[in-house]
Amino acid sequence: MTRVLHVGAEIYPFVKTGGLADVIGALPAALRAAGADARVLLPGLPALTTVLRDAKPVGSVQPPWGGAAAELVEGRLDAPSLADVPVVLLRHDALYARAGTPYGDGSGHPFADNPRRFALLGLAAARLAQGIDPAWQAQVLHAHDWHAGLACAYNAFARRSHKSRAGSVFTIHNLAFQGVFARAAFAELGLPADAWGVQGVEFHDQLSFMKAGLHYADRVTTVSPTYAREIQTHELGAGLDGLLRERSAAVSGILNGVDDAVWDPAHDALIAAHFSAQRIAGKAQCKAALQQECGLDAQDSAPLFTAVSRLTEQKGLQLLVGSIDRLVERGGQLVVLGSGDAALEDAFRAAAKKHPRHVCLRQGYDEALSHRIFAASDVTLVPSRFEPCGLTQMYALRYGSLPLVRRTGGLADTVIDCTLEDLADECATGFVFERFEADDLTRALRRAFTLWSRPRDWREVRKRGMAQRFGWNTAAERYLALYHDIGREISA
Ligand code: ADP
Ligand code: GLC
Repeated sequence: MTRVLHVGAEIYPFVKTGGLADVIGALPAALRAAGADARVLLPGLPALTTVLRDAKPVGSVQPPWGGAAAELVEGRLDAPSLADVPVVLLRHDALYARAGTPYGDGSGHPFADNPRRFALLGLAAARLAQGIDPAWQAQVLHAHDWHAGLACAYNAFARRSHKSRAGSVFTIHNLAFQGVFARAAFAELGLPADAWGVQGVEFHDQLSFMKAGLHYADRVTTVSPTYAREIQTHELGAGLDGLLRERSAAVSGILNGVDDAVWDPAHDALIAAHFSAQRIAGKAQCKAALQQECGLDAQDSAPLFTAVSRLTEQKGLQLLVGSIDRLVERGGQLVVLGSGDAALEDAFRAAAKKHPRHVCLRQGYDEALSHRIFAASDVTLVPSRFEPCGLTQMYALRYGSLPLVRRTGGLADTVIDCTLEDLADECATGFVFERFEADDLTRALRRAFTLWSRPRDWREVRKRGMAQRFGWNTAAERYLALYHDIGREISA
């Protein structure tokens, strides 16, 4: 049984700023079900330390810059979906016991000591591969996003000095966030001098945690096959495409899954009525309930377009703004849940004011409302500029909402457009447009209205979408195979 330690900064349902939390909240359990001995290492954030049960100390880690040691405590987080997953928290209250997100004060300012906060996380992971906890020694470190990138570097150097035999996987969830800091931070992290350089953690004379992951990991994965190809191009490589091309033999894409324990309209406790592909009636109740909640006309005949999203450049919802009047004229409704870019929030707020019975903005982050929206929705909008995987289009499919997406990253891998030929071949599941332009999105919206006017076809596409299965078990099998390959390489 491979002992694999997942290292990350978020975990659903306790700490979440995006899909990363959903992944770390589901993949380790799926790996355990597939026969791996998986556990998770996370920083000791207040939202986690307060829900850790049966905690026992398993070791301490001395920060290379001195000061108090950090303590590793192992236990279980108090959530049904995590009941079977051992979790190790890195406790160092001066670094982690703070209000805000895992990365900053919550109003957009990153913590100034983030290099220390995330270097220590990486160092603790590497120590867990060196036997600091005699009862459980990691054979593979699986680091998620830049936050865990240094785990791969510390482990590579420990292997060089024969203190570790563990392998490492680095998964890119979003190449746009790289964890880049001033050079000065490097000196106190306890890495050997030769880690500084183009063949190391240096990125244009700065320290890059992302690069540490990409350079030192035995394997690099991304969360969809298409994104794995895209990041090797200048356009989507965010300055790291050269390195990614160099390492292309070690780079692959493994599509994320959907956690059935959380996202299943037949059992979801957060929605107005249960439904499934075979017993769809409850979906109309969910739609009526959301229309009432949002002050929209109670019309089942109005196609309900929805978006549950961070409102940022990446997500592309700015493309939609110019089409809202037309969408309403055609008889559609729109519900947006999200927050972020102030100008975009203003634009949706203005549209809701102009069309109060057809458009609604719910600003903020609301997990329960997001379930009610997917359950009610007819079309889920994900017009992203780029999208490493994207989970909301998969949740949409599950809940009988047809995704309308741009053909990029994981969106391209999970949705098939309602072209005449794909309708005829019975494989279409949604609406896909190519270019990141408002005109292309508008045409996709027209396709949605056209299909809506043919209810029998709509029902068929919806049923097909609901039957798609993006299971974590498939992803878990692929990661397991990767761990085995690495293990064989290291012992060869
Ligand atoms: P990303 O991680 O880039 O934001 P994903 O589609 O992978 O995109 O994951 C986003 C996750 O966050 C999904 O679980 C989605 O339902 C959730 N989410 C996004 N915005 C909100 C919001 N305003 N309220 C509740 N959940 C949200
Ligand atoms: C990132 C990406 C998103 C992906 C998620 C989980 O936040 O932006 O596309 O689904 O990570 O892997």
